[in-house]
Amino acid sequence: MRKPFLAGNWKMNMNSATAVNLAAGLAKELAEIRTVDAAVCPPFVYLQSVSAALSASDIAVGAQDVYFEGNGAFTGEISCEMLKDCGCRYVIIGHSERRHVLGETDALINRKIKAAIGRGLLPIFCVGELLEERDGGQTNAVVADQVRKGLAGISSDQVKTITVAYEPVWAIGTGRTATPEQAQEVHAMIRGLLGELYDPAVADGLRIQYGGSAKPGNTAELMAQPDVDGLLIGGASLKVEDFSAMIKTVAEKQK
Ligand code: PGA
Repeated sequence: MRKPFLAGNWKMNMNSATAVNLAAGLAKELAEIRTVDAAVCPPFVYLQSVSAALSASDIAVGAQDVYFEGNGAFTGEISCEMLKDCGCRYVIIGHSERRHVLGETDALINRKIKAAIGRGLLPIFCVGELLEERDGGQTNAVVADQVRKGLAGISSDQVKTITVAYEPVWAIGTGRTATPEQAQEVHAMIRGLLGELYDPAVADGLRIQYGGSAKPGNTAELMAQPDVDGLLIGGASLKVEDFSAMIKTVAEKQK
């Protein structure tokens, strides 16, 4: 049984006061939840204060990116050790905004995933197609290629630490959510591919999140799909009511 995992990607939002307020509000709302894994991924500069605000809570903290080098002359970058030092358990790698706005390649993403695993962080590895790729019937080919390249050289033991997040780029921040059937189709393809790259038992244990305009109103239908094991949530994770409602909806179904 895969335990559901919902993570909030705060992106480049919040300030020092609102970040701590959001974390503290979630800690209070979700204090009784044990059947769903929850994480928040604040901007780097608020990781420490958010970790402190969540120290007595089961809500984990993740970062939105990481650099693969250990330390040294890499101006502006942040290492795995720094993230762990600030209380991070997870790190988002290969988010579509980093691929398409900041120009990250599959090869760079692969190095980051390897570094994160090697240094004890749990990667949330994002993949997803552009609108023109979907319209051109390329979805499975594009996503499969991202999965293969992102996981190149990663062993079956190592891959067990990864959560895959399928985020169709056309659904991110647009209000246009993939239908549950569209999400399920790609999730099943990813799980099948992981079964080929590793083995079916490993693939069966891996969690695959959906991301792209997930919100309280569509949480139940997305999570009802057999291969949707969680959500990576942008906009709706910035409000205590919305993010906690989504986690409670999933916890309710676990009963
Ligand atoms: P969204 O973002 O929920 O605002 O669409 C999801 C994401 O980019 O992770």
